[in-house]
Amino acid sequence: MCGIIGAIARNPVQNTLLHALKTMEYRGYDSAGICTVSQQQLHTQKAKGKLINLETLLEKEPLEGNLGIGHTRWATHGVPEVRNAHPHQTESIAVVHNGIIENHQRLREMLQASGATFASDTDSETIPWLWQQVLEGETNQEKAFLDTLNQLEGAFAIAGIRNNEQKLWFARRGSPLLLARSPDGVFVASDALAVGAVATEVYYLKEGQWGWSDLEHVHIFDAQGKKAEVMWEAMPEMVAATEKDPYKHYMLKEIHEQPRVFLDILHAYTDGSPHIHFPQATFIETAPLPSRIIMVACGTSYHTALTARYWLERYLKIPVEVDVASEFRYRDPVIAENTWMITLSQSGETADTLEALRLFKRQTPNNKSLVFCNVAHSSMVRESDGLIELYAGPEIGVASTKAYTAQLLTLALFSLKLAHQYNAMDDESVMQHIQALFAAADGAKALLEKPKTFDALTPLFSQAHGSLFLGRGPCYPLALEGALKLKEISYLHAEGYPAGEMKHGPIALIDENLPVIVIALRQYHLDKVISNLHEVQARGAKIILVTDMQKNEIPENINATIHIPEGDFFSAPLLAAIPLQYLAYNVACDKGTDVDQPRNLAKSVTVE
Ligand code: AGP
Repeated sequence: MCGIIGAIARNPVQNTLLHALKTMEYRGYDSAGICTVSQQQLHTQKAKGKLINLETLLEKEPLEGNLGIGHTRWATHGVPEVRNAHPHQTESIAVVHNGIIENHQRLREMLQASGATFASDTDSETIPWLWQQVLEGETNQEKAFLDTLNQLEGAFAIAGIRNNEQKLWFARRGSPLLLARSPDGVFVASDALAVGAVATEVYYLKEGQWGWSDLEHVHIFDAQGKKAEVMWEAMPEMVAATEKDPYKHYMLKEIHEQPRVFLDILHAYTDGSPHIHFPQATFIETAPLPSRIIMVACGTSYHTALTARYWLERYLKIPVEVDVASEFRYRDPVIAENTWMITLSQSGETADTLEALRLFKRQTPNNKSLVFCNVAHSSMVRESDGLIELYAGPEIGVASTKAYTAQLLTLALFSLKLAHQYNAMDDESVMQHIQALFAAADGAKALLEKPKTFDALTPLFSQAHGSLFLGRGPCYPLALEGALKLKEISYLHAEGYPAGEMKHGPIALIDENLPVIVIALRQYHLDKVISNLHEVQARGAKIILVTDMQKNEIPENINATIHIPEGDFFSAPLLAAIPLQYLAYNVACDKGTDVDQPRNLAKSVTVE
């Protein structure tokens, strides 16, 4: 949801900025821009569309200067056009912004009344004009910057430069931002990936912090203007993990990484005994059984929570409430004492999920919160009482794959741990389930070693006007996820439905051009799912069956069957997820869409 970068260095920064934007293009890709300072002037290049367009422009007309900022955009206010691309600027100030300035309309009117001439339709452009206006009446530069920030309502991460100084300004409120440094320079960025190649140390700015840097010193302050300390940490090794070769797309690479991720997770949290350890969530060890668990997330992460509800409720016998974050935070939820809040997020920065967590903490500060997250330094991690890290490695493809199954697997381990701890499962059963999870890692590997198996599905979608995914029990959220994956990258309408609910409406859609994907696993009401399969088959649907049944048990006249290894109550969804991901990937490739950066989407949704 927009990536921002700023750099002040001993050498020209254009290529550093450009490289950083490349690594953050997953955050937004409808326009991009760079602004540098040289000879006391701001120099800007912007281009609509993918970053390659900006790159081409810069090849022809490069930008000089050792101080600069850059931005890759996912539009919120204003269509994706050059005029709305960042940096936004006055003659003397340029700013890049991630987030939303909620009072932009009021600010714009006030600034226009005093002579500001806006060039874009964005909320962000109010920032440089406001900063300039404040500076006209305030000689203390730090105070002027803080006064500017104090007049902004909403969420932001900002980097800014001025034409007459070698200083990089920055602020973080509600959107992620980090500082990084090396002997060659100081950087600010939305994501550590952006500066992994040039910086050796990193500091994740805390909520409300702001400051400025020259080449020698970094100065940071809290929201009240009090000086704060920068606690540098070593930059984690991450560059190699972000290369996609030899795969054609990041999504394909990430699908194939899953067996390795499964093993990493299993080795991190199990030790050959029935005792599962979550070292960053130690409160679990001594906590009494909660009366209720609330799970909140968005998109794919929401689907994993829906699956975990089946696991947790069966063994713990406590209510597990699952909600979409944007609904939870506005529905005046009733939260009693002794309730745990679980948030799930690949990025840890999704605005609605983060705000849901904050609401929970405000309402019941004594209750515990736990986040399942792939980014260890993210806002959700910092604001939760415990973390279960996903260990999936950077996920670049906008469509989540390995983070999804990593969430499923960690949730399975979490469910087993609680079942064991609260005496709902004995040692032997826990061990058997852990072994089944290890077997699922092998099963996933075997499935992915024969990717051609999935090719037979693609032709069934050549004339399709949509598709329906059906499942029961934990296969119902899998159906939701299969449908989400297909629609987000192939742009084909797809719906996930509980198989038993299908006859209450969606069955009317069935015809020969609406392929129906039935997920039928032994663990979850197999006979009933097969009855539902016959119901759609009788109405002329083309059926794709994803199943762990034996070949001789398969109903007749199925158009395509994907056999997966048999899993147990916890491991089966991990295996069934893979053909659904591959199906979406193959259909998208067949349609020629942009798999890794599908239209209108962004990887990290940091605005509500
Ligand atoms: C996944 O394929 C989607 N692109 C999207 O639904 C995503 O899962 C959602 O935005 C939540 O993101 P998070 O896990 O980073 O919070």
